[in-house]
Amino acid sequence: MKTQRALLSITAALVAVTLGADAPGAEENGTVLSPQALQEIAQVEAEIDRIEAQAIERLAMPPDNQVQQIELLGKLMLYDKQLSVNRNEACAFCHMPETGFTGPVSELNRTTGSYPGSVRTRFSNRKPQSHAYAPLSPVLHYNPGQGDLVGGNFWDMRATGRRLGNPAAEQAQGPPTNPVEMGLPDIACAVYRASQRPYRLMFESVWGLQAFAIAWPSDVEQACSRPGPPPAGEPMPVHLGPIDRGRVGTTFDQMAQSIANYEASAEVTNFTSKFDAVLAGKAKFTAEEQAGYDVFRGKAQCNACHRDGGPGEDPLFTDFTASNIGMPANPRLPYYRESRPDALGYAANTAASSYIDGGVGDFLTHKHLLSQPSTVDARWLGLAAQNHARIQVPTLRNVDKRPYPTFVTAYGHNGYFTSLKAIVHFYNTRDVLPRCQPHDVGEGTTCWPAPESTDNMNTSRVGRLGLSEVEEDAIVSFMETLTDGFMPVNQH
Ligand code: HEC
Ligand code: HEC
Repeated sequence: MKTQRALLSITAALVAVTLGADAPGAEENGTVLSPQALQEIAQVEAEIDRIEAQAIERLAMPPDNQVQQIELLGKLMLYDKQLSVNRNEACAFCHMPETGFTGPVSELNRTTGSYPGSVRTRFSNRKPQSHAYAPLSPVLHYNPGQGDLVGGNFWDMRATGRRLGNPAAEQAQGPPTNPVEMGLPDIACAVYRASQRPYRLMFESVWGLQAFAIAWPSDVEQACSRPGPPPAGEPMPVHLGPIDRGRVGTTFDQMAQSIANYEASAEVTNFTSKFDAVLAGKAKFTAEEQAGYDVFRGKAQCNACHRDGGPGEDPLFTDFTASNIGMPANPRLPYYRESRPDALGYAANTAASSYIDGGVGDFLTHKHLLSQPSTVDARWLGLAAQNHARIQVPTLRNVDKRPYPTFVTAYGHNGYFTSLKAIVHFYNTRDVLPRCQPHDVGEGTTCWPAPESTDNMNTSRVGRLGLSEVEEDAIVSFMETLTDGFMPVNQH
């Protein structure tokens, strides 16, 4: 019954979106979610509500330890759709456990690559990353010996962590006011909405009674229900005195720190893959997995960037630097069509189809940023050119985690790749196979499209690996051993 009712409201939503696409001036923004995507979305939303309800139940008998209270607070906020402008999108919408905390909608991964925001016609420019292991990234810093920026969160490192000492905490301050994600017009709205939630009392007991002691203006509800970005002349539509504004900032910091602490907790970042079990001598690789690991560390040199550990170092399968591996653009991204003002007057991408993701370089020069939780260090501006089109090396942990075998996962910053085999074949043959012709049926097997950008492209380790088909498959088998949940979580 419940599902049927949900499906009915989905049909209504589909009609609404389709109608919205007919609004004057919105022709180019008409990305309509397919019935298949809407059905999956409804299932994900129901799952988020279920997980949230379970976490709310734990408030009745909260843990007596402060660390665990903070983790529970973080979880409650990560699954809280009330923190989005239309009260319909939690962080978890783009980061669910069954996919290793990345995008949980197979149909979106297969088609749009990116996810719609709280305003459902606005899609982001990138594929959701996993939030697991993200808090273990160092605070962004420049290593002069290597000539590299190292650390931070986001594909372009723009959540630096230099203000709060934790990139994942600063990251958590991006989505709430990102117009294509949770869409609130003011960070004060996130604090105001949190003050009305069942976790308020525990928040106050952990972080102090001042947290929500804020004189809210009488029009706060109204101001917070208008999707961002705020009008140019009014960057903070919730009108507060300077002391209350300061308090909002501090409470927003504590919300973000709580979320990052949950992401770092053993429920999310737990080192329980088969790979970890093998390292601990509790399991054995199959012959193919072992062969794959050998190629990963040997002939293919994947571990030059996706580091598999070393003395005193956790194997996180990233070195937290950034590279341009020459990935093709993903023409399926709806972002390319978000060039005209939508029904609310917002255009996410005025560059339209000429948009190129400049990665870390764009972060340093403030270009095409949909959210900017951390300030750029002006001393790094000179590094912009050498970082243009570079993207942070993602962890490979949980890269194959999926709820069922035919579930499609998207890979890379723009989600161009939809299988591990395809991305390995790309590393192997980028510089060997010819360019594809338009609509080439060989795309991905016998030809490759041009890179999204060739600026700073890595040609020494990527593009011509000389791997056999068997070796490619073995690397995929090895990456499948990086899925958490093989060993029980150790609570101690
Ligand atoms: C609409 C989908 C969406 C929502 C909602 C969303 N995210 Fe994300 N998340 C993304 C995308 C896309 C990226 C990569 C964005 C980029 O690099 O510019 C990302 C990146 C991240 C990262 C960076 C991981 C890393 O290794 O650097 C973390 C952590 C994260 N999100 C946590 C959160 C939290 C916490 C919230 C809620 C406050 C949230 N996300 C809400 C889509 C989403
Ligand atoms: C020069 C550094 C470098 C090397 C070498 C390298 N990678 Fe990567 N890898 C990256 C970067 C950077 C990205 C993100 C690229 C992007 O989004 O444009 C990435 C992305 C990936 C992804 C997508 C993960 C996700 O969550 O979307 C996979 C899978 C992957 N690499 C596997 C491998 C394998 C297997 C090898 C060896 C054959 C390898 N990589 C070699 C830097 C490297």
